[in-house]
Amino acid sequence: MTLIDGKATAATIKAEIKDEVERIVAQGGRRPHLAAILVGHDGGSETYVKNKVLACEACGFQSTLIRFEDDIREEELLACVSRLNNDESVDGFIVQLPLPRHINGQKVIEAIDYRKDVDGFHPINVGRMAIGLPCFVSATPLGILTLLRRYNIPTSGKKCVVLGRSNIVGKPMAQLMLQKQWGDATVTVCHSRSKTLKEECRQADIIIAAIGQPGFVTADMVKEGAAVIDVGTTRVPDATRKSGYRLSGDVLFDEVAPKCSYITPVPGGVGPMTICMLMLNTLSAAKGEFYGERVRK
Ligand code: GUN
Repeated sequence: MTLIDGKATAATIKAEIKDEVERIVAQGGRRPHLAAILVGHDGGSETYVKNKVLACEACGFQSTLIRFEDDIREEELLACVSRLNNDESVDGFIVQLPLPRHINGQKVIEAIDYRKDVDGFHPINVGRMAIGLPCFVSATPLGILTLLRRYNIPTSGKKCVVLGRSNIVGKPMAQLMLQKQWGDATVTVCHSRSKTLKEECRQADIIIAAIGQPGFVTADMVKEGAAVIDVGTTRVPDATRKSGYRLSGDVLFDEVAPKCSYITPVPGGVGPMTICMLMLNTLSAAKGEFYGERVRK
């Protein structure tokens, strides 16, 4: 069994990004600039955004954090999005989710210029991704594909089961695993209503668990030699930790790991890759590209 080290892979990729940024700056270019909008004080969102700002520093990017209280009006938030769309100094930006209930999150996402949508959440990017056109791919699925590639885990023609159908992980993950130029796999998506979920998992060469239930994937659901990718990051109370919680994955690691060819730990697997892929998307945006295809200037 090989443990997939997302933390080390992310560190390597961030160093590669920093090298490229320093080359750009040495040639008279400017540093990529990522802006993040954070509304309210949700603990998880605060941590994610702080880590995004730190990753910008590690990559040599400029970053701007724009904070609003959770009673902000939707129009004010939309005005901020519009300002960032038109700000030539900002290459890409994100609106950290979830947003307060009185704000229409989809409306906010759709207000983002898709050429600056480094989260890959805008319907134009989602649609382009679904039909295999250059686009910004959302960071978690892109991070998982990058881990599969860097660890030389075969995907072409393999049976892949995606657990979960969220818009930011399950659905794009399934689309990308299906695409010829990405996973090229046979893909099954299972969710909370799937009657044959266990049977599907038992036949899978690759299981990608993004269901948000700690310990959901047990050893009896995993074929000998399967690769298991755990996207779960549920906070569970833990009095022995300073923070008062620990992160729990969707996979019951101790019993599943011995059956696997490859497995990601939680933490230190998919999580660090997600932020790293946001940095890669921002670098592409700064170059006016979607992975090599010009979209701007
Ligand atoms: N909330 C949880 N994950 C994400 C993410 O990848 N991007 C944004 N903007 N919000 C999130």
